[in-house]
Amino acid sequence: MSTISVEDHWNRLKHAQSTSFLKRNMTELIFRELKDKLTYFNGTLLDCIQGGCINLDSGCGIYASDPEAYDVFSGIFHPIIKDYHKVDTVSHPNPDFGDINNLGFGDLDPTKRYITSTRVRVGRSQAGFPFHPTAKLKDRVELESRAKEALDVFSGELDGSYYPLSGMSREKQTELIEEHYLYLQENRFLGDAHVYDDWPVGRGIFYNPDKTFLVWVNEEDHLRFISMQKGSDLGAVYKRLVTALNTIEEKSSLKFGHHSKLGYLTFCPSNLGTTLRASVHIRIPCLASQPYFHDFLEKHHLQVRGVNGVHTEMIGDIYDISNKRRLGLTEIQAVREMIAGVGAVLAEEQRLDGSITHAEKQTLEGRVAAET
Ligand code: ARG
Repeated sequence: MSTISVEDHWNRLKHAQSTSFLKRNMTELIFRELKDKLTYFNGTLLDCIQGGCINLDSGCGIYASDPEAYDVFSGIFHPIIKDYHKVDTVSHPNPDFGDINNLGFGDLDPTKRYITSTRVRVGRSQAGFPFHPTAKLKDRVELESRAKEALDVFSGELDGSYYPLSGMSREKQTELIEEHYLYLQENRFLGDAHVYDDWPVGRGIFYNPDKTFLVWVNEEDHLRFISMQKGSDLGAVYKRLVTALNTIEEKSSLKFGHHSKLGYLTFCPSNLGTTLRASVHIRIPCLASQPYFHDFLEKHHLQVRGVNGVHTEMIGDIYDISNKRRLGLTEIQAVREMIAGVGAVLAEEQRLDGSITHAEKQTLEGRVAAET
């Protein structure tokens, strides 16, 4: 791990080529104002920006050393938050997941031609606990034990088991990774931000037998709740996730970290607010080969990734497409933004795709009209 001072990191970043939100928003003035500040957990500016200074190809380039970092270092976090989430003020509405018994989402891809799987996840932190750069081994262990206890409250479809990473056989790990259920320890952006310190202590994964509901413990965030399944029934996926969150809040002793202006608190500022990422794995060869592909996604507030998670390449011609904005709108609005965006993506793909049949076109057009 680097022992370079925060000044040296900043001096390098200042003169380097980088398109990160950190580089775009940090100024000499802001840097001077923040460089000697400390949070309650002794979090420093270095803890927040080290990963982004080392990895000049970062998207955001900044993480919170602990929950209080968002206030202590607001001089840099706030401009980045506004820039990323495209909001004018740093504020967030109260949670609103919509009426889960009356969602009316429909099937995202009735033709079954484009979308292979659908997933919705949120991040949650345990209030009053440090994030990775300031967490000690004992904090990781304590968090894991609280999480394990909390995850015991589920019944029915959500009922599952917790599998700690320590002691997990290599075969089991490989199997889970290959099926895209388990996280890796390979992301340099996270590694340089202390996310893998004390690995694998305190890390683990919970899932139900069908692996349609999963919880990551002590990965990037304290907790990540994930609902996923093959196909494109977003309503079923979303309802399962919201039911799980309601159950945990009602029945367990976990208290989720929440901020009046930032919503639910996460390690990365890109996830603040709703923390919600609703995604599909989608095959869109015609649109993806257009020069305007990325502009098209940007216009619809969508983000594209490889199918193996953040900072991975795409495999075959399948992309992971999700809502980009998470703060400044409610959960149900974030999901609806994704639905409208995916609808636009499908409409554009079928417009470009000469091989699509008339009947398929009509099915899609009907769906898009119903969603927007
Ligand atoms: N720090 C990385 C970057 O700036 C990650 C950004 C969002 N992804 C995440 N896993 N939080 O590019």
